[in-house]
Amino acid sequence: MDHMRSISVPLGDRTYEVRIGHGILPSLGPWAAAITRARRAFLISDSNLPPALVESASSSLSNAGFTVLTTRVRATEPEKSLETVARLLADVAATRHERTDPVVALGGGIIGDVGGFVAAIYRRGVPVIQCPTTLLSMVDASVGGKTGVNLPTPGTGDGGLKKNLVGSFHQPALVVADIASLGSLPDRELRCGLAECVKHGLITAASDGGSLLDWTATNASRIVGRDPASLIELVERNVRVKAQIVERDEREDSAKDLRALLNLGHTFGHAVETMPGLSLDNDPAHAPLHHGEAVGLGLVAAAACAAKLGLCDPSLQDRVTGLLRQIGLPVRISGLTPAAVIGAMHHDKKVLGGRLRLVLPTHAGVQVIDDPPESAVRAGIAAIAL
Ligand SMILES: NC(=O)c1ccc[n+]([C@@H]2O[C@H](COP(=O)([O-])OP(=O)(O)OC[C@H]3O[C@@H](n4cnc5c(N)ncnc54)[C@H](O)[C@@H]3O)[C@@H](O)[C@H]2O)c1
Repeated sequence: MDHMRSISVPLGDRTYEVRIGHGILPSLGPWAAAITRARRAFLISDSNLPPALVESASSSLSNAGFTVLTTRVRATEPEKSLETVARLLADVAATRHERTDPVVALGGGIIGDVGGFVAAIYRRGVPVIQCPTTLLSMVDASVGGKTGVNLPTPGTGDGGLKKNLVGSFHQPALVVADIASLGSLPDRELRCGLAECVKHGLITAASDGGSLLDWTATNASRIVGRDPASLIELVERNVRVKAQIVERDEREDSAKDLRALLNLGHTFGHAVETMPGLSLDNDPAHAPLHHGEAVGLGLVAAAACAAKLGLCDPSLQDRVTGLLRQIGLPVRISGLTPAAVIGAMHHDKKVLGGRLRLVLPTHAGVQVIDDPPESAVRAGIAAIAL
């Protein structure tokens, strides 16, 4: 249990710990037993996980005295659905799961969102313990209490799915981020998680003098090489960023507009992600881009857009581009036309009252900019178009 880190997310009576370490999953059971007197646990795991990892979580819970019901979910966006939630609710109800019995979500963001949502609505809310197994879910999705599923909306040009349209805020009772579980994560997924870390570095650049960006750049090769100590520190530093924002704006309160800052790069990124046929190698058969790849491109576009508006130094774009390259993420993509990207951006859920809202880096920190001039939006798109 060397190098175990614990970060508190202080939310009054919903305060919880995020525990980060290498090989800590076997402690899940005792930790769960310490926060509840429950006797049953409903373990929802990602069907792509190595069986030994699932077994480690399950046996830890049963050794701590829990009767464990285990089920697996395929981590795809179409499976992140109300149908999956209905199936899981039927399973959990059949075990006569009580109000204090936890749901344990073991997997990436999809499992965390589905498991969290089941926990949010079963008996109007049971505890959920998030055990993230992707870098993205460790640094982002498992912390903050957003849960939910997609809705099918044929003909929206959004892959037939409206992402995260149904959901609830339901803070976890505990988060257990075992770095060892990243061992089986494909490199491409690791890089996608790193895009969110670059985003966090940009969000904090004005307040920390760019130290998170610098630290990530200095340690990029160790991180990509999966050095455990570097990964622990990476997750710790990034969870602190997310936790501080969640602490100040738990439910994306529009008056505070703080949590919206986490959408930096996402309006450009989401537009690129949903455009048909875009791929890393220009082969439409390999489309679409993964979310983290699109977010990385979105960060470059946001920096270029902000520079055009005079909000930030033009060198910021080079800094972001350099870091994304170090990580192995794309910084330009072919097949983008400004009109198509702008059209897709207007479909984004961050559009308010028909006007575009962008989250952009500025000298004073990240800010929401309403209705930016089209010339600046085009400068952002030009920065990422090949
Ligand atoms: N709730 C939030 O605040 C929040 C924030 C960001 C993203 N999200 C959601 O998270 C989802 C994306 O999450 P993600 O990037 O973690 O992706 P994911 O859950 O889709 O997982 C990515 C892939 O990795 C596999 N996988 C997961 N862990 C693995 C492991 N240890 N070894 C081998 N394979 C593994 C999965 O089966 C899947 O194929 C999206 O649905 C997004 O909407 C939620």
